Formats: sequence, C-alpha cells, structure tokens
Amino acid sequence: MHLTKEEERIYEGEYGWANQICMKILVRLGELFDATRLIPISSAHVSGISYKTLGDAPVEFLEALSAAAVKVNARATLNPQGFDMAYLSQRLDADLRRKQLNILKQFEKMGFTKSLTCTPYYIEEPSQDSHLAWAESSAVVYANSVLGAWTNREGGPSALAAAIIGKTPDYGMHKAENRQPQVSIMLDTQLQNETEFGALGNCLGKILEDKIPIIHGLKDFSREDLKQLGASLASTGMVNMFRLPRASMKTEKLEKITIENEDIRRSVESLSTASKSKPDLIFIGCPHCSLNEIKKVAHIIDGRKMKSRRELWICTSRFVREKARNYVQKIEESGAHVITDTCAVVTWTEKLGIKTIMTNSAKTAYYAPTLNKAETLLAPLKECLKTALEG
Ligand code: F3S
Repeated sequence: MHLTKEEERIYEGEYGWANQICMKILVRLGELFDATRLIPISSAHVSGISYKTLGDAPVEFLEALSAAAVKVNARATLNPQGFDMAYLSQRLDADLRRKQLNILKQFEKMGFTKSLTCTPYYIEEPSQDSHLAWAESSAVVYANSVLGAWTNREGGPSALAAAIIGKTPDYGMHKAENRQPQVSIMLDTQLQNETEFGALGNCLGKILEDKIPIIHGLKDFSREDLKQLGASLASTGMVNMFRLPRASMKTEKLEKITIENEDIRRSVESLSTASKSKPDLIFIGCPHCSLNEIKKVAHIIDGRKMKSRRELWICTSRFVREKARNYVQKIEESGAHVITDTCAVVTWTEKLGIKTIMTNSAKTAYYAPTLNKAETLLAPLKECLKTALEG
C-alpha cells in the first residue's frame, strides 16, 4: 500500500502508539484486500457499543486508547448501548450499568458523539458519493443503497481505527466497479407492508451471500421500507448494497432469481417462532425509528390507552425523539415508552423477564431467538400496536 509521508510517520509511531496501532489496523486490512491507498472519510460509525455484545475483553484496549489521549479525526458516531437512562437503566443491576457507562466514557473521551443510534443518517445524512467507514450493517446497506454514499461493512475495531485516523483503505464498496449488480431479482408479488420488505431481505440474504442484487418489481415503497429490506438483507447475508433499476443499467446478462408470494410468506412464518400468541414485549424501532415512523405510531395509537400489562417500546435516537416531542407525548400517554440509546436486541430483555417479543422488524425477529433467548412474533406495525393496545 502506498502511504503518504504523514501516514508513514503515524505508522512508524511518531504520533504515539495509539495512533500507530490504529494506522496498523487500517494498513493490515488494506493489504488483505489489495487496497493501494487510504482515502479520507466524512464519517465513521462504530458498532458493538452495548456491553451485552462487547463483553469485557475489548474494554482494556478502549481504556488504553482513551488514556493515550487520541482523538477522532472525522465525524464519529456510536451505535446503541445496553440501556437508556430514563427507563431501562433503573431496572438493570448496578454492575451492568457501571460497565456500560465506562465503555461510553472511553468513546466520549476520544471525541465520539453520543449518538447511540443505528440510524445515524437521520441525524446527519451523508452526502451522495461521500466515503464512510460504518460498522452497523443495516446502516451500511442504507448508506450504499438509498443514500448513494460509499462504505464497506466495517468491524468495530476498523471503524474505530478509521475514526481516529480519519481515513479508510480504498477497496470493496469504495470502488465503482464493485458496486455493480451481480444478480437480477424479479419480484413476482406486491409487498404489503414494512414487515414484508424485511421478509424479502431475509430470504434474499440467504440466497445471495455477498452478491449485490438489482431488485425489479418493488412498488409504492418508502425509504423506511427500504431500511427494513436492507437491515434484514444484511442479517442473513453479507450483502452490503442492493440496487433499484435505472434506465441506464444493463442487467439482461445477469443471473435471474424470481421471488414469489410464497417465498415471502415462508420467510415471515420462519421468523415467528412463538408457541403462544401473547408477547411480553412489543418492540418497534429496529432499525431506530425515523420521524415519520414516530408520527405513524402516534397516528395509529390515536389517543387510545394500552389495556394489556405488556410492554410497548418504540426505539429511536435522542435526536429524532426531540424532533418528535409532540408525537412522543401522545405515544407515551398510551402507556408505551419511547426509548432512546438502545433497542430490545442489545439490552438485557432476559433479565427483564421478557420471553416473547412481537415486532415488525425481520431483523429483530431473526436475532431475538439467539441474542435475547426469546420467542418471536413477526407482524406489521398496525398488528403490533393492536396487540399492545387491545391485548
Ligand atoms: Fe438497531 Fe438494535 Fe436493530 S441496534 S438495527 S435496533 S438490532
């Protein structure tokens, strides 16, 4: 890899061991994937913030980095942590709270923004063609496919190193030739709601592994539908991008795969594992809700109160919650909780006695059986809210 004089000095340790180790992580990664240089990034987004998923091992490294006083050199944001301070932190034991807050402190010392969301693009949308180093897989697919930004799917350490150095190795999704569609998907059914978009992602991820699909036949969709599609596509597969048809795209020679109504139905069915139809928790907001989604929830609730004793969580970022203040108030008057900084998957639902989770997110339904040891019910937003309100 070609390094500039300045990059070489960092690599040789002239700016201290912490910058050096970050540079070495990036160069090693670049060499592995035949990158020839580092390129500047406009933002980095680090995942693995929740103590539940991070564990103890990496914390010493984070403490050492922040003690060495390294600072980020690009806009740097963080994925959700294990709880929010307003609601869930009170229900978890002190040891978990202390360990989680220590992780957050280390990132803050390095200059990371306390965004604590998997939808950093709602806080500040990256511009088209900008280069990023993002580690949250749902955000990676959204950035590449919907926003037209360029990012690989980073791991936690490489996104952290990129944030500190302000650069990333130029390979993979940073190259135009690697962003071309490789498989043509013919959708032979009309998707009815966000859950079915997620179900499509779930079944495509399994078929495609890491190949970029061009998806023909999607109709009447919102950006939130595409968010659901991308989030679950990235859960079952290693796909970092999907394409939608454009007149200039030649796709006749690509391998073709047809997806039918039956595939979507089977996918939804496989993501509902619960033996009982009574969930303990109804969870909306994977990935974290947009302002529009919060509005929609408030609109559907429409002043009604929750009759059941189950929990309804609507997860979003602090930024969106603040913008949606009026809707949040209406939602919370129903007995639901609009929660920031975390989500059902990365908090300790087991410790809260939650055994069955109902959600409209195919991604949550995919992960909850392993990460939450919970049974799942996958259903569209309206049905989830009906269950929450009416029991
Ligand atoms: Fe975000 Fe949690 Fe889903 S981090 S993408 S809401 S699993």
